[in-house]
Amino acid sequence: MLAHTFCASTYGVDAHIIDVEVHAQGGQPFYSLVGLPDRAVSESKHRVDAAIQASRMEVPRGKIIVNLAPADLPKEGSAFDLPIAIGHLLANRQLMNDKVPKTVLLGELALDGGLRPVKGVLPIAVEAHKRGFDYLLLPEANAGEAAVVSGLKVLGCTSLRQVVDWFNGKAEVAPHVTNLDELFSQHTSEVTVDFADVKGQENVKRAMEVAAAGGHNLVMVGPPGSGKTMLARRLPGILPPLSLNEALETTKIHSVTGLMRSGSSIVTTRPFRAPHHTISDVALVGGGSIPMPGEISLAHNGVLFLDELPEFQRKALEVMRQPLEDGFVTISRARMTVSYPSKIMLVASMNPSPSGDWYDPGNPEGTTHGQMQRYLSKISGPLLDRIDLHVEVNKVSFEELSQKSQGEASAAIRERVMACRQIQQQRFLGMDVHCNAQMSSRQVRKICRLDDAGAAILKRAMTSLGLSARAYDRILKVSRTIADLERSEQIRGHHIAEAVQYRSLDREGWLG
Ligand SMILES: Nc1ncnc2c1ncn2[C@@H]1O[C@H](COP(=O)(O)OP(=O)(O)O)[C@@H](O)[C@H]1O
Ligand SMILES: [Mg+2]
Repeated sequence: MLAHTFCASTYGVDAHIIDVEVHAQGGQPFYSLVGLPDRAVSESKHRVDAAIQASRMEVPRGKIIVNLAPADLPKEGSAFDLPIAIGHLLANRQLMNDKVPKTVLLGELALDGGLRPVKGVLPIAVEAHKRGFDYLLLPEANAGEAAVVSGLKVLGCTSLRQVVDWFNGKAEVAPHVTNLDELFSQHTSEVTVDFADVKGQENVKRAMEVAAAGGHNLVMVGPPGSGKTMLARRLPGILPPLSLNEALETTKIHSVTGLMRSGSSIVTTRPFRAPHHTISDVALVGGGSIPMPGEISLAHNGVLFLDELPEFQRKALEVMRQPLEDGFVTISRARMTVSYPSKIMLVASMNPSPSGDWYDPGNPEGTTHGQMQRYLSKISGPLLDRIDLHVEVNKVSFEELSQKSQGEASAAIRERVMACRQIQQQRFLGMDVHCNAQMSSRQVRKICRLDDAGAAILKRAMTSLGLSARAYDRILKVSRTIADLERSEQIRGHHIAEAVQYRSLDREGWLG
């Protein structure tokens, strides 16, 4: 007897439906599982047998062949347990067949017949719906995430027994409902650290507001204890909320990595990832024999914070350049090539020298100009090229620190950021660009037109400060954002002047 069930597997952030065929015939015991299974899939037999037995049903005997098709796609993970078990039960007629062809099955089996959660259910739910399946039947802990896809009946189950009873019409399972509006409205009030706690540092706060408003990359340079980490941690609180589309994109990546908390359904806050500087290049950009996304993709639509940038391995920073430029990472393996999106805001911090101090001409004992230059130039060049705003952070004075008055609250800054994003949304309607930072060179030429006065200021700044050609596009993009914050259609002289200030690292003063 040949039985046929459906499962699915993820490749990158996409899913493929996998046909599970179980062929059972009597005779001598023999078991074979084919179709490029990995270790976890191959071991399913033991879990499946034990779970069927624990559910007081009959384990098929004799010669059994399980085929996972298409045969040339590698299959990994434990989600195949349930469709294989159901295939076994169909093959020896312990199950009714009428709902099986309309159902995608996913789940790892425990030896007692319970169902354990699996990874990557959101991309699978999207694919199951696209392919016209009626039901997605999976472990209860995964139901919330899958039910984000509307138009598909998502059934969360706790045991193999319950699944069998549902197929046989002995038990009802209510489709899971995820209320997206409610989830999104809950999140908006959750800001734990606030810019109001930061004394002084008005120029840095302003730069962060500009960065958040236009989605620009930012690097902060300053001595230890000047508050760089403190400031960076407050950035998520002023970022605009995720749109539903952005949330789905980000959730897919977290889902295939297995980062979605059990029972949660969708990522509602922009990610803020802060990996330690000992991180490997693979963990940062993705890779591995089964290609997994790295931190840069986990931060997709959010912030990747690299604290103490020069401490990171040079190789790790090198491999980040391309994904930063393209907005996605491509990982090639013998059998497949996958790509993960990586549209991020890169925020980095660094000391100005190995000892942590600025070069001070008045202090012969302190950091020399050469030391500072060497240290800063660790990140100069192509990576720096991709960072729009460079900000100098200095320690606040004791007087400022002991002030009672609070700074402006994150909520107020966020209002301005959101208004500014709205202007950009209108501007980029129907394009694959969400914010000013993502504009291509061609779009910059078209969208960031300067009047004569503006062009003259930019020209003067470029020559007198020794700015490179690579700074040119960056300055135009940032001035576009500064103008948007002021709701000014035209980019004016003072917008450019402010944007030029944020090019400290390629100005002759620091590195020249
Ligand atoms: N402007 C500031 N306002 C309030 N506290 C500050 C400020 N700057 C620094 N601090 C205090 O100093 C601590 C160290 O700052 P931190 O962000 O770790 O500095 P850095 O990362 O530049 O070494 C902070 O946790 C905070 O308590
Ligand atoms: Mg720090």
